[in-house]
Amino acid sequence: SLPERVTIYEVGPRDGLQNESAVVPLETKAAFLRRLVEAGLPVVEATSFVHPKWVPQLADAADLVDAIAERGLDRVDGRTVPMPVLVPNERGLDRALERGVRHIAIFGSATETFAQRNLNRSLDEQFTMFEPTVRRAREAGMDVRAYISMCFGDPWEGDVPVDQVVSVGKRLFDLGASQLSLGDTIGVGTPGHVAALLAAFNEAGLPNTDLAMHFHDTYGQALSNTQAALRAGVTTFDASAGGLGGCPYAESATGNLATEDLVWMLHGLGIDTGVDLDRLVATSVWMAGQLGRPSPSRVVNALAGG
Ligand code: HMG
Ligand code: MG
Repeated sequence: SLPERVTIYEVGPRDGLQNESAVVPLETKAAFLRRLVEAGLPVVEATSFVHPKWVPQLADAADLVDAIAERGLDRVDGRTVPMPVLVPNERGLDRALERGVRHIAIFGSATETFAQRNLNRSLDEQFTMFEPTVRRAREAGMDVRAYISMCFGDPWEGDVPVDQVVSVGKRLFDLGASQLSLGDTIGVGTPGHVAALLAAFNEAGLPNTDLAMHFHDTYGQALSNTQAALRAGVTTFDASAGGLGGCPYAESATGNLATEDLVWMLHGLGIDTGVDLDRLVATSVWMAGQLGRPSPSRVVNALAGG
C-alpha cells in the first residue's frame, strides 16, 4: 500500500547549485530559498560547509546562513522550515556551530574510489572523519542526516554490491545519524535494484521508514525507482526544483529528480506533499532565467509552456 503523505527533502539550492558552472549571487540564492519555502517545501537543504576550493559555487555558505537567520527566510505561517547544510568534517561543523545551524548532513561513500575523489579519504578513513563530527553535533543538539553516495553503481568501479551499501549504512547509523539518504549519484539504478537494496536494509534491521531515497535522473529511471521505494515503505524523497544539479566529483551525474516531476506523480497517486505545484513551477522558471538555461524538468516545461 502507498503512504498518505510523503516528505520531499528539497536539495536544489545545494545539490543543484553546487554543479552550476556559473556562481549564483547570494541575493539570488536567498530569493530561491524564500520561494521554495513559500511553495510549501517542508525541508530545504541550503548549502555546504565544505572546503571552498572544492566547491566554489557554495563558498558563500556562511553569509547565506546569516542571511537566512537575519531575514527569517526559513519562517513561514508561524513555522520554521529546517534548512540543513552539508558538513563533511569537524572544520565544517565548527563553521556551522558558529552560525547557529541546527540541522546538518554528513555525506559518505559506498565505494573506495568515490570516497577518495569526493572526500580525499579512504572508505574506512571517512568514518574516522565522521565519528567526532557526528558525536559533537549530537552533543550540541543538532539533527544529523547521513548520505551514502554510489549506492547503485559507481562510474569507476561499476556495480556496487548491495551488502557493501548496507554495511556503510549500518556504520553511519551507529555513529548517530537519524536518517540515511541512499544516493543513486549517477542515476543508473532500476526498480528491481531499489527493491533489493531496501529489502537488504530491512533484513539488516534498518527499517525503511528511517531511509530516504536520493535519485538522480540520468537514465530517466528516477520516478520508476521512486515508486519501487514507496511500495517498500520509504516516505522521504530528495528532489531538486527544476531538476537542477549533479555532483562535481562524479562524472556523468546529471540533475536530481525534479521536484515538480515528483510532486506531479505523488499528487496523481493521491499522496499529500504540502507543495504548491504552481508556485514551485514559477520558481523554477524564474531560476532558469537566472541561470540562462531552460529547466530539464518535463513537468516544468509542460506547465510553463517551455
Ligand atoms: P582535505 O584537503 O583532505 O582537507 O579535504 P584537510 O582536512 O586535509 O584540510 C586541508 C585544509 O582545508 C585545511 O586548511 C583545513 O582547515 C581546510 P589549512 O590548514 O591547510 O589552511 N578545511 C576546510 N575549510 C573549510 N571548510 C571545511 C574544511 N575542511 C578542511 N569543511 C574535505 C577534505 C572533506 C574538506 C574535502 O574533500 C571537501 O571539501 N569535499 C567536499 C566535496 C563535496 O562537497 N562534494 C559534493 C557534495 S556530495 C554530493 O553531491 C552527493 C550527494 O548529493 C548524494 C549523491 O547524489 O550521491 C550528497
Ligand atoms: Mg546528489
